[in-house]
Amino acid sequence: MKADRASHTADFAAAIRATYQYRPEKVLHEDPFAIDLTSPLFRFIVKTPFLRRLIMEKYFLRRLGASLTILSRARYAEEYFHNAYRQGIRQVLVLGAGLDAFALKFAALPETLAIYELDHPNTQATKQQRLAARQLRSPHQHHFIPIDFSRDSIADVLSGSTIELSRPVYVSWMGMTYYLRKSDILETLKALDRILAPGSHMTFDYMDERLFDDTFLVTDPVLKKSIKVFFEFTEKHGEPLLTGFSKSSLKELLEETNWTLTDSINGRENTAKYLHTTPDFLWPTEFDHLAHIELQPHETPS
Ligand SMILES: C[S@@+](CC[C@H](N)C(=O)[O-])C[C@H]1O[C@@H](n2cnc3c(N)ncnc32)[C@H](O)[C@@H]1O
Repeated sequence: MKADRASHTADFAAAIRATYQYRPEKVLHEDPFAIDLTSPLFRFIVKTPFLRRLIMEKYFLRRLGASLTILSRARYAEEYFHNAYRQGIRQVLVLGAGLDAFALKFAALPETLAIYELDHPNTQATKQQRLAARQLRSPHQHHFIPIDFSRDSIADVLSGSTIELSRPVYVSWMGMTYYLRKSDILETLKALDRILAPGSHMTFDYMDERLFDDTFLVTDPVLKKSIKVFFEFTEKHGEPLLTGFSKSSLKELLEETNWTLTDSINGRENTAKYLHTTPDFLWPTEFDHLAHIELQPHETPS
């Protein structure tokens, strides 16, 4: 992350969600707040029909596989949240929340939630300014907790919060694992394993580890270019891509914890699940993945 500014990728993700709200079908994900939460430049582009079509739809939505992931990961996180809510979970941890609208949604739920957003302080400061400027308020208890995942312990930062660790929590960790070192991902999973109650759930997305392998050849030239652009864009903005997994390497990592993998789906499968046909402006790939894990009870020494 570059010093003193919000995450560029968070601005970009909000801009993609804002663009999608202009599509007539909107079946994948609804986010009426994204336009207010993205940067002034993206807001201008998205609100200007000619620029929206040229830059956001024709370029980003159509040519960058990550765009579809941004929409489908938000949908996936919300679906699993609803399952968790039905099971009685009322506490939500949003790791690397960025400029997402999770805390602004679900006003119609019979019971309010305690939502804890953990993110880099620069991104959080920008989000809080934008929420205040637009007078957007969460219908839930909404807490901001600053953290740098590459430096701070999540257990320490949560210990100073009002979260009730004896009760299960739903955790959404979207758009972030690939910006962290594998050791930091494992550390976070282990810390959450230690402090959260069994029955807690988590959803996150991960990139395919083959994309981090220099010897892996992407044969489709359009896909190859899209991947190159994504790596360069994130590097240029101080958020280099560092880590990917396969389903089996992810399972291996989770074996060091009490989290078990209950679902892992790639962009293509996900598109087929949510959309009956692939729209011509979105582009699913097999290199982006969504996962759901559940925290099992800790073994007690006999
Ligand atoms: C691509 S955005 C994802 C935002 C949101 N979850 C979404 O799906 O739109 C990445 C987020 O990770 C956060 N982030 C990246 N590296 C971080 C770090 N080391 N510590 C804390 N937050 C970090 C950024 O601040 C940003 O909000």
